[in-house]
Amino acid sequence: MLKLVDKIILGIETSCDETSASVVKNGREVLSNVISSQVDLHQKYGGVVPEIASRKHVELIIPVVNQAIEEAGITPDAIDAVGVTYGPGLVGALLVGLSAAKAIAFAWGKPLVGVHHIEGHIAANYIQHKELQPPFVCLVASGGHSHIVHVEDYDRFKILGKTRDDAAGEAFDKVARAVGLGYPGGPLIDKMAKNGNPKAVDFPRVYFEKGCFDFSFSGIKTAVLNYLNSAEQKGEKYSVEDVCASFQAAVVDVLVTNLISAAKHTNSKKVALAGGVAANSMLRKELEEQAGRAGLEIYYPSPILCTDNAAMIACAAYYEFVRGNVSDLNLNAIPGLKLGERG
Ligand code: KG4
Ligand code: ZN
Repeated sequence: MLKLVDKIILGIETSCDETSASVVKNGREVLSNVISSQVDLHQKYGGVVPEIASRKHVELIIPVVNQAIEEAGITPDAIDAVGVTYGPGLVGALLVGLSAAKAIAFAWGKPLVGVHHIEGHIAANYIQHKELQPPFVCLVASGGHSHIVHVEDYDRFKILGKTRDDAAGEAFDKVARAVGLGYPGGPLIDKMAKNGNPKAVDFPRVYFEKGCFDFSFSGIKTAVLNYLNSAEQKGEKYSVEDVCASFQAAVVDVLVTNLISAAKHTNSKKVALAGGVAANSMLRKELEEQAGRAGLEIYYPSPILCTDNAAMIACAAYYEFVRGNVSDLNLNAIPGLKLGERG
């Protein structure tokens, strides 16, 4: 078993539209987790505008880091390493956090630890569930990714399935826009769906051959758009609540079915959720029911740890750091970084 040591990590995350810094002790004890969301800025464009995100990160990164250190009640000399997301994500956004992390590491003489963003999302579960240890199977579903990952060890990951087109969160955001809800769409669809009938419309569920745990969400999204267009052309009224509930049911069905099949395939006893979509109430409920029936233990982070935050990055950095996986100051941002690869 991995020997845990007394270490304090400063984590930095700027891969998309959240500027975040956090101080985490021994991998799982969050001393501070400052998240400055830019959602309000991007809302009027219906999605994240990369150039605006980068500029805002530049403005916020130093104040956010300072606040994280202050709220943690520590001084910089107490920090053992600086962990930072270096991919995947928006290149301009990643570069701001990475440059700040490198400058801090250099100026304060601390080791730098580059973290894969998805590894961070998975690590959020360690913060929430102090007893959780690998191996387990984790569904990582966010605005940019939908992966089923076999977490074999803290730093060993095997991708069992991934989306072949849209990410789950992306599908939520696009459908939300089509039915006239705002951005980000996931939480709004989740809320509307509570008053809708999930069986009202039979949207398609896409499954691949046996033993393949990939996803495809563009078909569900197109089916929703066709349903709305056809209703409009016929002058028929439709219930937004029913459309939201039925769309959500289709996505959740596929996510839960593939996650449970992947757990069985790998003889895993534990399944976890991670990423923004992991906050979805129907996904959690369905997984609890179905995984419970399959005799699996279920783990998911609280909503604040599901969305992008630096505590999860500091936690992942801790497990890399105690294994001696440190980066040098030439580390570059890699927008398409693959899980399990090191830059
Ligand atoms: O992990 P995250 O904060 O950022 C990325 O790395 O992408 O995920 C954001 C995504 C958005 O697409 C958002 O609509 C979705 O997660 N999301 C949800 C819910 N809350 C956030 N999707 C479904 N149900 C929710 N409750
Ligand atoms: Zn994310």
